Parts: sequence; structure tokens; C-alpha cells
Amino acid sequence: MKIGVFDSGIGGLTVVKSLLEHRLFDEIIYFGDTARVPYGVKDQNTIIRYALEAVEFFKNFDIDLLIVACNTVSAYALDEMKQNAPFDIVGVVEPGILAAENSLPGTDANILVLGTKATIASKAYEKLLHRHDYYNIEAKATGLFVPIVEEGLFGGEVLNSTMRHYFGDMPPPDAIILGCTHFPLISDAIGKYFNNKSLLIHSGEAIVEYLQIHYDLSMHFDTTDLKLFASENPDALKAVAHKWLDL
Ligand code: DGL
Repeated sequence: MKIGVFDSGIGGLTVVKSLLEHRLFDEIIYFGDTARVPYGVKDQNTIIRYALEAVEFFKNFDIDLLIVACNTVSAYALDEMKQNAPFDIVGVVEPGILAAENSLPGTDANILVLGTKATIASKAYEKLLHRHDYYNIEAKATGLFVPIVEEGLFGGEVLNSTMRHYFGDMPPPDAIILGCTHFPLISDAIGKYFNNKSLLIHSGEAIVEYLQIHYDLSMHFDTTDLKLFASENPDALKAVAHKWLDL
């Protein structure tokens, strides 16, 4: 199966990492809109327009499925993308909820949702969590984590003081949905901040779980042909991919 993975920039490589680890696909085409990242501070119309342009990009490849790794795009543009695409499209919000449901013991669990300003403003996670009977939800826009991750500051004082700024002395929630592509890279630090008492839900792992339920992925591939595209400076994206994905 040949798939596409779309993100606003480099963050979607965290989803690619999970897909590669599980050896589910023989070919992955990745496109990061590095020229226009971040999407998380843009408005709905702009996010939809950019997402539809990405659909046009992927029409050049014979893909069977497009994974929208970007939470912001998943929150705002999935329906419009589906209406305009000749291939299946899966976002990361629904798989995130499924992963929470599969790992939490009951619907009274308290859940902290982290995401960009746009993702949190969309209430996409909250609405879906409500539909699954989860009501103890706190949603927090933690967009400063995005440039921190892009700087490679996965630990240290800048990250620690940003976590203090966002979380203060908040008690550990039962689960934290890492509702942004970048956040899995600082999941250790976030987990530690909450004394490793919270279950961390990562879009990459969640989407693997979701795909295994909804698609026939019984074949495992020894190698995956990964093709990387970016709207600006593809060499920088490739350098990050080599580092994060151990290519
Ligand atoms: N990829 C975005 C997301 O998952 C984060 C970066 C951005 O703001 O574009 O929401």
C-alpha cells in the first residue's frame, strides 16, 4: 500500500516514525508545508485552503490513503479534503480518542488535551471526547512548544520554564493527549513534569492502532521507500528526518 503523509512542516515525521516502526507500508510520500508553517496560528479559511492545495499535490502520486498528521489540519479541514480527494483520508483526532478509550479504565478519567491555538480553539478533541462520554477535560493551547521542539530543545531550562508557565502546579491528569505533531518529541519531559503519573497519547501510535482496525494491514514490509517533499528547503526536512528517524 502506498500512502501519503501530510503535515504543516517537519512535525509529521513523528507519525512517520511510528508507521516505519510497524512496517505497515511499502511506500510513504511525505509532504511538509515548511514554507508556510506554523498553521496553528492561522484561521480556518487559510488552513482549509492550504490543506486543499496539499490534496492537489498528492494527486500527482498514485496513493491509496492520505494520513493527515497535522492536528490543526485534522481539526479544521478533513471534510473539505475528503470531498476533493480521489483517495481515503484519515486525520489524527479520531485515532487519538480511540487510543484514549482503549487505554483508560473509565469515562470519568480526567484528560488534558494539548495543542496549537487553532486546534484548541476548534474544540475538535473536546467535541469528540464528549461524544464518547468523557467530560473531565481540560484543553490547553501550548503553541510555544512548537518552536522549542524545532530548536531541538527536548529538555533543559527553556522547556522546563515553558512547562511551568503552562502547567504550574496542575495535578497529574489521568491522560494527556499530545494533540500536536511536535509534542511526542518532548513527551518524556511532559511525562516527568507530571511525575510519570499520566498516560501520554501520541498521534503516531494512535494512528497505527486506528489503521490496524480499519484497514487490512496484515502484510509487513522489510523496507519502506520514504520520499520526502517540502514546500521550502527540502534539504532541511531531510536532515531532520535522518536525525529523528535514524535513516
Ligand atoms: N503540525 C501542527 C499540528 O500538529 C503543529 C505545527 C503548526 O502549528 O503548524 O497541529
